[in-house]
Amino acid sequence: MASIVTCIAPVNIAVIKYWGKKDEKLIIPLNDSLSGTLSMDQMHAKTTIMASPNFTKNCIWLNGKEETFDNIRLLACLKEIKRRAQEDGTSKELLSWNIHVCSENNFPTAAGLASSAAGYACFVFALAKLYKVKGDVSQIARQGSGSACRSLEGGFVRWHMGKSSDGSDSLATQVVPASHWPEMHVIILVVNDKKKKVSSTSGMQRSVETSDLLKHRVAYCVPKRIVDIEKAIKSKDFPTFAEITMKDSNQFHAVALDTFPPAVYMNDVSHSIVDLIHCFNKVKGCTKVAYTFDAGPNACLYLLEPTVAETMAVVDYFFPSSNSKNTVQGLPVPPCNAKE
Ligand code: PMV
Repeated sequence: MASIVTCIAPVNIAVIKYWGKKDEKLIIPLNDSLSGTLSMDQMHAKTTIMASPNFTKNCIWLNGKEETFDNIRLLACLKEIKRRAQEDGTSKELLSWNIHVCSENNFPTAAGLASSAAGYACFVFALAKLYKVKGDVSQIARQGSGSACRSLEGGFVRWHMGKSSDGSDSLATQVVPASHWPEMHVIILVVNDKKKKVSSTSGMQRSVETSDLLKHRVAYCVPKRIVDIEKAIKSKDFPTFAEITMKDSNQFHAVALDTFPPAVYMNDVSHSIVDLIHCFNKVKGCTKVAYTFDAGPNACLYLLEPTVAETMAVVDYFFPSSNSKNTVQGLPVPPCNAKE
């Protein structure tokens, strides 16, 4: 008798960025971060895991291509889930079987669109279901890809860096469910869907070693921003939320440039989008749209539902997708959460 589960986990887009670790192995971050989880039916990872006594070894297929099952983060997540499963009384027989993992993203992988966040959240969530692990597994997902811990909850989610050296209190909690602010939308503008040149892992490690601005950001900027943006989200104060979001994205990319050698993630199209959004907000007389960029050139716009159609029209006018090899695609998605 084999055992099989299939899960879906969505992408999350940080408004206060995680950048830099104080423990590389356990993935304990230098600062708290906060993100919105996208709707399940939009950008997501889908993972099926099967355990069988007939499997002679562990195998994994990512987007249809077989990979070797030797990634240390993958193995760390599997080991930790099995340890918890043993504590929870899962049958020794099931735990002894090998597994086959099949995972697919329905969007570009490793292009700075939080693919590893959705992928690891889904992998860990599916393993937890397979082995009947109870309780919070965000601490485990964190050890796959830091930001993955935030994809296990819907709505707005905060990853607390925690105080302990073993990472036991470095976990994600929901700030508000998606239903708190249903008017909130995200538009993803795919500027370039190619794999990024500098991975977030090596980029942030280099920033920790070389950027003075990162030290300033962690000590003086993020703690206040986290408190202020949580307040803005809870009171649905969009202009404050938007201003903090844009400032934090700009500072994160300033840190990337302050890294030596610099990590350059945004390109000319990204900078034109920044200019366009500031222009749009100025014409409107108040802040209607916020941009944020992860470790890549693609823009994520946070905005409220009444502004979606006009923003899409403006983006389409200035960046007609058929004219450029840097295709810009809109994708309005309301936040939601991970499900089985
Ligand atoms: O979780 P990682 O290692 O892919 O790092 C993610 C880093 C950013 O996307 C740039 C910021 C964030 O908080 O998601």
